[in-house]
Amino acid sequence: MVEKKATNVTWHEHKVTKEEREVLLKQKGAVLWFTGLSGSGKSTVANEVAYNLHSIGKLTYVLDGDNIRQGLNKNLGFSPEDRNENIRRISEVANLFADAGVIAITAFISPYRKYRNFCRELVGDGRFVEIFCRASLETCEKRDPKGLYKKAREGIIKDFTGINAPYEEPENPELIVDTDKETVEESAEKVMKKLKELGLIKG
Ligand code: ADX
Repeated sequence: MVEKKATNVTWHEHKVTKEEREVLLKQKGAVLWFTGLSGSGKSTVANEVAYNLHSIGKLTYVLDGDNIRQGLNKNLGFSPEDRNENIRRISEVANLFADAGVIAITAFISPYRKYRNFCRELVGDGRFVEIFCRASLETCEKRDPKGLYKKAREGIIKDFTGINAPYEEPENPELIVDTDKETVEESAEKVMKKLKELGLIKG
């Protein structure tokens, strides 16, 4: 994916294991990966799920595109290469959170299947939950919470997802939430149910 420039580095095993951390936290580390168009509700549902999990005593952390792009990934734009690097770094960060025993909840457009699958492989099946926030382009454009679709239509933004940059829908996500039909609470409840089914939280 990217050239490995670091040489002469050796992996150091942790003295405290992931399993021991999970016993301490009384939970399983996982990555809940929300994907979907801008304005599809990823961050809103992700935060609602974080709230629900927090309420039952689970430690979560939401990683969100608009936030991460102001710090860790502020040197990245929206070319395919930069989006891929954005997702690669986030995958590594989310995987570290999961390894720490935290339930990492990510909300990135993540338009390319290949890079979402990179995260799936990194985290490992069973702990990676892909959630497709499905809302039509029409709905997202109508919502346009940041006025970005308007700018894209006016040609001010040249590579806007759904307008003039691609979005590859997930083929086999663990869950689809239809945010143009469901309320935020209903979508979040569906996620909670799925986490129980997958054994990531207790029923
Ligand atoms: S991703 O494609 O690399 O996964 P990410 O989720 O980090 O995108 O960032 C998307 C957010 O950046 C959008 O919600 C929007 O607010 C903003 N944004 C700015 N320019 C673009 C663009 N060209 N395409 C999509 N989103 C953009």
